[in-house]
Order: sequence, then structure tokens, then C-alpha cells
Amino acid sequence: MSEKDFIPVPYTTLKEEGTVSYSSPSNIALVKYWGKRDNQIPANPSISFTLAACVTKTSVNYKKKDQKSDEFSFDLFFEGEAKEEFKPKINTFLKRIEVYLPFLKEYHFVIKTSNSFPHSSGIASSASGMSALALCFMEMEKTFLDTLSNEHFNRKVSFLARLGSGSACRSIEGPLVQWGETPSIEGSSNLFGIKYPDKVHDVLNNFHDTILLVDKGEKQVSSTVGHELMHGHPFAKQRFDQAHDNLQKLKSVLSEGDLDTFINIVESEALTLHAMMMTSNPYFILMKPNTLSIINEIWKFRQVSKTHVCFTLDAGANVHVLYPENEKDIVFPFIKEKLVPYCQNGQYICDRIGLGAKKL
Ligand code: PMV
Repeated sequence: MSEKDFIPVPYTTLKEEGTVSYSSPSNIALVKYWGKRDNQIPANPSISFTLAACVTKTSVNYKKKDQKSDEFSFDLFFEGEAKEEFKPKINTFLKRIEVYLPFLKEYHFVIKTSNSFPHSSGIASSASGMSALALCFMEMEKTFLDTLSNEHFNRKVSFLARLGSGSACRSIEGPLVQWGETPSIEGSSNLFGIKYPDKVHDVLNNFHDTILLVDKGEKQVSSTVGHELMHGHPFAKQRFDQAHDNLQKLKSVLSEGDLDTFINIVESEALTLHAMMMTSNPYFILMKPNTLSIINEIWKFRQVSKTHVCFTLDAGANVHVLYPENEKDIVFPFIKEKLVPYCQNGQYICDRIGLGAKKL
């Protein structure tokens, strides 16, 4: 498929007004996306677990303008309050997607959005936020067309969400979503995420993710800058090749439920992501001392308990602690006793793998 396939046929009707609402989750990458080309094309393929508890709920009320104008027109409320400072980001998003949703300038929108997780918790809200908004606009488009298959709907939502924030394209479906063309996965695309098409063992379909909020402060370096620094990075080629290799290796790991190799790939990916930050120029470190203390505690506990608890990291200091359902009675008490003391104000979020966005 190409970008052109997402330009719609002429609409049959444009409704005067209405409201659409969606809840869309965050996701946590197992093989990380880090580095991109123009138009949010990933430099390497990635795969993620879709989450269940960390979600953004968005409603869009739309009303036809008396006259189509050359500006996008919308009001934005975040957690009940008007948020002028979020508007430029939405405006940029609307500009990028207008060619694929040519009705956008015909309407005035009232966008109301809220997150299930605490604001400024260091949990990236762009994946859940951008995917929820893309879903609302696609739901509108659906009512303007005679037919729209579910498959095309999901692909186009993911395609649009990607233009808002790369990783947002992996939040529409679940439990595992893959994004980025790679020879080992049939149907993989740089343009949108796909529900992971190969076999997944039950043990890996039922994982917990306890998110430890180590540092809730503003990140010193944004993901946008981090992606940019992969251009001309001394290890870029090796890193991109490694991501392809890891996706290929994950295939048998996921189908056989080989947890030891799973842990090895997932932890290596997390540390490689941060190694890329530390070896770029300018270099930077997003982990905090408590991030490392938690990692060491997990390694010690895993050895003595013979469980399959492991960690992964986002572009920040927080730690995602992953473990299978059938080990939760051993792992969760350990998290509470040994790891939560390293969290800022003792804050953590109990999440688990989810099945994707829901219409409200
Ligand atoms: O979607 P962005 O541009 O914020 O990039 C996110 C990148 C990571 O979260 C670090 C990795 C990933 O694959 O989600």
C-alpha cells in the first residue's frame, strides 16, 4: 500500500453535527523504534504490547461551519480545562492529516480529552492521545462514506495516528502490534501498525506491566530530538540491523513462549535504546540512579526466585516491570516491598496487556 491509498473517495454525505468518543491505550515497545525518516517513517521496525489501564479518553463534537474557511477551528479541553498550550501540536497534526481527511476544515470541533494516568507522571500520553483523536476523526469519516471495511478503518487510523506520534500507530489493536517493514513479518508496513500476525503462546498473551514512576519531571531531551540524533549516529546502522534481527528472533520466542530468550531480547532492547542516547552527540542520560537500582533488584530477585520478571524502559527514567500472570503472586509482593520504595512518592501503576482502543 502507499500513502495515496489513504486518500478517500468523494464523500456521499457530510453530517451537520455529531459527537464521537473513543478510549485508546498507551503501549510499551519490546523492540524499540528510535530514529526516523521524513513523514514519520521509522528507521527500524518495532513491536509493542498494547496496555489496558493507561488510556486517553477523547470525545470530539463536530458542527459544520457556515462557510468552509482556510483555518482549522477547534476548542480543546484537557481534564475539563481549556488548554491553549496544547493547541499548536493539534494544529500541526491536523495539517499533516488534512489531505487524508479532506473534511477537517468544514467543521468546528470541541475536543475534550482526559488521561487515566496522572498528568506529568512521565508516562508518554502522545501514543494514547494521538490514537484516540485519530479514531474520533475516522469514526466521523465512516459516517460520510457508504462502505469502509474494518481492516481499512484500522489501517487508516493507525496511519493517521502515526503522523501525530510514531508510536501512536501501535495503540489501535492488541495484544501485540508490529510496525515497520521487515522481511520476517508478512504484511509489515512502514505506514501503519498491524496486529502481530503470527502465533503467540498463551503465556505471552497474558502479561502484567507494573509501571514504576521513578521520575515525574520534565524530560531534558524530547523523543523528537532523540530520533533526530540517530541521523549520523556512529552506531545507527548496527542498531537498525539489530532491530530487524530481534524481530526475527522473537518469532519463535513468541510462538513457543520461550520466556528466557524473551527476557534477553526485551532487556537488551531497553538498554540499547538508552545506549543510543548515551552515544549520540550531543549525548544525554534519561535514566536516574533509582532506575539502575530497580534494574539491579530485578536481576537479583529473578535469580533467586527463578521467576520470569524483567524490565523495559521508555525514553525516560520510569521502569516497566513485565511478568507473566502465573507468577504474579510471587512477583507483585516483591515489587511492593523492594521496588516501590525507589519510586517518586511511592507512585506506580498496575497495568497489563490489553486488546486496543474502544468506542465509547
Ligand atoms: O512515538 P515517539 O516519537 O514519542 O517515540 C517513542 C519512542 C520510544 O517510546 C522510546 C520507543 C517506542 O518504540 O515506543
